[in-house]
Amino acid sequence: MFGRIYSHRLEWKRCIPALVSSHRTLFTVLWIMGFASLFIWQRNLLVDGLWGLRVNEKPMPMLRPFAFNLTDFGGKGDGVTENTKAFEKAIMEIAKLGKKGGGQLNVPPGDWLTAPFNLTSHMTLFLAEGATILGIEDEALWPLMPPLPSYGAGREHAGPRYGSLIHGQHLKDVVITGHNGTINGQGPSWWKKYKQKLLNYTRGPLVQILWSSDIHISNITLRDSPFWTIHPYDCKNVFITNVTILAPVFGAPNTDGIDPDSCDNVVIEDCYISVGDDGIAIKSGWDQYGVAYGRPSTNILIRNLVVRSTVSAGVSIGSEMSGGVSNITVENVVVWSSRRAMRIKTAAGRGGYIQNITYRNITFDNVRVGFVVKTDYNEHPDAGYDPKAYPILSNINFINIHGQGVRVPVRLHGSPEIPLRNLTFRDFSVGISYKKKHIFQCSSVQGRVIGSIFPAPCENLDLYDEQGNLIKRGAQNVTDIDYDF
Ligand SMILES: *[C@@H]1O[C@H](CO)[C@@H](O)[C@H](O)[C@H]1NC(C)=O
Ligand SMILES: *[C@@H]1O[C@H](CO)[C@@H](O)[C@H](O)[C@H]1NC(C)=O
Ligand SMILES: *[C@@H]1O[C@H](CO)[C@@H](O)[C@H](O)[C@H]1NC(C)=O
Ligand SMILES: *[C@@H]1O[C@H](CO)[C@@H](O)[C@H](O)[C@H]1NC(C)=O
Ligand SMILES: *[C@@H]1O[C@H](CO)[C@@H](O)[C@H](O)[C@H]1NC(C)=O
Ligand SMILES: *[C@@H]1O[C@H](CO)[C@@H](O)[C@H](O)[C@H]1NC(C)=O
Ligand SMILES: *[C@@H]1O[C@H](CO)[C@@H](O)[C@H](O)[C@H]1NC(C)=O
Ligand SMILES: *[C@@H]1O[C@H](CO)[C@@H](O)[C@H](O)[C@H]1NC(C)=O
Ligand SMILES: *[C@@H]1O[C@H](CO)[C@@H](O)[C@H](O)[C@H]1NC(C)=O
Ligand SMILES: *[C@@H]1O[C@H](CO)[C@@H](O)[C@H](O)[C@H]1NC(C)=O
Ligand SMILES: *[C@@H]1O[C@H](CO)[C@@H](O)[C@H](O)[C@H]1NC(C)=O
Repeated sequence: MFGRIYSHRLEWKRCIPALVSSHRTLFTVLWIMGFASLFIWQRNLLVDGLWGLRVNEKPMPMLRPFAFNLTDFGGKGDGVTENTKAFEKAIMEIAKLGKKGGGQLNVPPGDWLTAPFNLTSHMTLFLAEGATILGIEDEALWPLMPPLPSYGAGREHAGPRYGSLIHGQHLKDVVITGHNGTINGQGPSWWKKYKQKLLNYTRGPLVQILWSSDIHISNITLRDSPFWTIHPYDCKNVFITNVTILAPVFGAPNTDGIDPDSCDNVVIEDCYISVGDDGIAIKSGWDQYGVAYGRPSTNILIRNLVVRSTVSAGVSIGSEMSGGVSNITVENVVVWSSRRAMRIKTAAGRGGYIQNITYRNITFDNVRVGFVVKTDYNEHPDAGYDPKAYPILSNINFINIHGQGVRVPVRLHGSPEIPLRNLTFRDFSVGISYKKKHIFQCSSVQGRVIGSIFPAPCENLDLYDEQGNLIKRGAQNVTDIDYDF
């Protein structure tokens, strides 16, 4: 619209240059008034329609052979009526259609308050523009579920845990999408009760899908989860695209954005995430329970994200990683105004491994610490873990890393029991914001730098030229770790 109006102005200018120059001010005022009235008229047309119709409401596409409207099941989008039964009835209808290609549940504009409900296979949940699913605040209406087998306990309390607002187990072919409608967990009441220690069980995630395959989440906004926002657990083929995840960057404890946990074949792309804990945290179970369960997170591609995490990190691996984490690529990611950009966290007792990880084309924009590996993240489910179960960390590549306003670009804190092996740095140049000492920190680190990087690497790393010729062997026993800044 701006382009069109602007070109009109150019034509006017061309036709009557004399008028423009002699009555420039008057002309400009008239033009602005004309433009403003045209703009207001068009806006009203879009919002209310010429005859009071809401002509701007985008029709919801048919993505399954059958589609239902939540209102067909008695749903009321007034923000106060409870819609749990409407969701359950609609999803029960869709469950009957699996063999016929499944069904779609349209959630029209409005605020649809609900207690937790279960999805079914071969279903599409479609959130219209202006549709919000609102999680009910009363925890008595949130069902309890047994701990996840690879955790042995709820993450915050032993014993059962609250299920998620939108939940699924043993499903296939589930789509959650829309015209940027919202799923809102009404987290503030949960965060408050958590801080006041009023909750007896671990808080529930916003969307949690267990033991399922072919899960697609796209084109929606998720906001203010009580706990982790999207938690795919022991799933195969998970695609999360063009999703916005929001929670306050302070005071919203454990509101991780997306936590793929013991999942195989995951793509997370084109998302904006700004939350109160990790933007993304790749996990695979906790200590002896995760070791016994033995399901790694593997084949995960994370790309084209903008992430902010003022409390934790943009993209993390761990700290629960006892089933192993491998073949992870994180690329084209910008982390801004955050505490840490990329973090690997683990501890003695975890067992498992973190192997074959590549970070490529990462931009740090005002972060305290760029890359950090922490091997003493000592949170355990109970006293039954094996303190000698040391995780293996190796084959980690950092390629094409840039940024500005970083205090400590690299902090690699390995230990004699948990050394960091076979790290590679290449094409790395990060603008620093602090004194030039202790800005590339290492202990128990082995690996190499190819070509020149900024800031200068720690002495532990071998130096190679661009052609791959060894220039200097690293002194692996040097230690420089400084948490003071
Ligand atoms: C859903 O039902 C409501 C109320 O009957 C109606 O206003 C809306 O247009 C319907 N939406 C669709 C997509 O059918
Ligand atoms: C939702 O699914 C879980 C796991 O299958 C089950 O325990 C629970 O009863 C279901 N809830 C409802 C309301 O059907
Ligand atoms: C992302 O989602 C928004 C609505 O949420 C949509 O307008 C836009 O076209 C989507 N972009 C892509 C690339 O799918
Ligand atoms: C979707 O909605 C969120 C929250 O209202 C907004 O921040 C985001 O920009 C929207 N996304 C698109 C693609 O319009
Ligand atoms: C937690 O347990 C205590 C003691 O049994 C009980 O009084 C309280 O209502 C419970 N709180 C919640 C939120 O379930
Ligand atoms: C997201 O929305 C855009 C615009 O409506 C659509 O073209 C695209 O197919 C949607 N993407 C997915 C993955 O649903
Ligand atoms: C690693 O993961 C990517 C997806 O990110 C996949 O295409 C590739 O086949 C995987 N490689 C191996 C060796 O499994
Ligand atoms: C690197 O990532 C940025 C976004 O962070 C993107 O704009 C750019 O195209 C990427 N470069 C390459 C070579 O993929
Ligand atoms: C990591 O890559 C190496 C070298 O390609 C391979 O031998 C090893 O099996 C991989 N590790 C895992 C856990 O996939
Ligand atoms: C060490 O890392 C390099 C670069 O990723 C890889 O090519 C090589 O296979 C790794 N070495 C071992 C022993 O896994
Ligand atoms: C590190 O190792 C080198 C050679 O292996 C040795 O000369 C040096 O004393 C060691 N330094 C420390 C601090 O242990």
